[in-house]
Amino acid sequence: MDIKNVKGTHDIILGEAKIYEHIETTMRAFAEVFNFSEFRTPIIEPNELFVRGVGESSDVVRKEMYTFFDKGNRLLALRPEFTASIVRSFINNKLYATRDLPVKTYYLGPVFRYERPQSGRYRQFHQFGVESLGVKNVLSDVETAILGYVILSALGLENVTLKINTLGDKASRDNYRQALKDYFAPKLEKMCDDCKVRYDVNPLRILDCKVPEDHALVLKAPKIEDYLSKETKDKFYEVVDILKETDVPFEIDSTLVRGLDYYSEFVYEYHYTSKKGVDYGALGAGGHYDDLIEELGGPRLSGVGFSFGIERIYAVLKDDGIFQDHKEAIDLYVMPLDEEARESAFYLANVLRTAGYKTEINLSDTKIGAMFKKAEKIGAKFALIIGENEINNKTVILKDLKTKEQEEVDLKVLLEKIDKNFGENSECSCHHQDEEGSCHCHHDDEGE
Ligand code: HAM
Repeated sequence: MDIKNVKGTHDIILGEAKIYEHIETTMRAFAEVFNFSEFRTPIIEPNELFVRGVGESSDVVRKEMYTFFDKGNRLLALRPEFTASIVRSFINNKLYATRDLPVKTYYLGPVFRYERPQSGRYRQFHQFGVESLGVKNVLSDVETAILGYVILSALGLENVTLKINTLGDKASRDNYRQALKDYFAPKLEKMCDDCKVRYDVNPLRILDCKVPEDHALVLKAPKIEDYLSKETKDKFYEVVDILKETDVPFEIDSTLVRGLDYYSEFVYEYHYTSKKGVDYGALGAGGHYDDLIEELGGPRLSGVGFSFGIERIYAVLKDDGIFQDHKEAIDLYVMPLDEEARESAFYLANVLRTAGYKTEINLSDTKIGAMFKKAEKIGAKFALIIGENEINNKTVILKDLKTKEQEEVDLKVLLEKIDKNFGENSECSCHHQDEEGSCHCHHDDEGE
């Protein structure tokens, strides 16, 4: 019987992995440009970190955590998100005392939530995100929101909308919670079981209910803007004014409350509907938090950040045709004509690879015609053919698979010749160019 992957998980293989790599490289590059630096935290954490950090009223903690006891009887969890881990690391390493604030971090890796698998929703998925820790400043809030938008634009997503809202300060939220309780109390009997729990633990969470009958009630529920203090409102409109000066398209969405408990004030989500009209939900989301650092044992400092769901971004890029399946082009295909030539061909391939050329070699008994077909299939630019004659002459046949021209080349000058051939097709004298034609090879740095 086949052993299948765990429900809600998926393999990222072959060309897909290349696209993930491209997405992740773009994300890292722009985070670095905004002067965020990478943090890598463990996948396993004490369960309590998320219960206290993400919050007991969140679906993530109530229903979706992968928890287990280790052999030392410690209750651990696979991280369902990064923010609590990053804050834990900020506190454990006393960065609040030893570094200039804010400490600006980015992160990337798998996270785990026991959700119902469906399109764009997995049980193991990947997040990339940033956290800016230690300052309470609307400009820091907006800085993170802009970074997320810049990344999505750099990936080629043109119709991103940033939805923004404020959850207000604590007093405003308390007033609003009470108003929601008053509104939902007479309706609660007919609402879903989850909403009954949310009513007691955190009525704000009812606004996120996806059950159609409950959602209709949510639409008529009191709106948070009517319960915000003047200070909180002013702060939010400061964010709005700053965003207006940027080219980030945004809209205010007063129903946006976020699914995790740690937020206060500014919250945001990146939304996108693909060209085919598929709504993938939020590609990423985040916001400001005033209490989380203190809640987890640190000083009273604020933070802000967002996380992207990489699977969703991948799906949208595919759906919109921004990335086709990636074809692995290679530089050189080494073709030994018989078994005797295979060993020499093997050493030659080694030399070519060490010189930095992406090289494949045919190691099985294959007729020359089939080898040429294979070379074409894998997008090789040149074939190197070695048979008995070439071994005796210490040469190799070098064939340009585009022009079909070929010549016998002395092994002593082969690399020089190949360098020249690749150099002729590129602006700099090397072959290490990416799709945009930029050179990343080290001999370029050395002033070749
Ligand atoms: P979140 O909204 O729970 O926020 O998740 C962020 C993103 O992860 C979502 O917008 C979505 O793209 C993706 N995502 C969530 N669940 C799934 C799933 N089951 N399958 C695939 N993708 C998913 C957070 O995690 C916060 N830590 C964000 C944050 C950072 N807030 C402040 N700093």
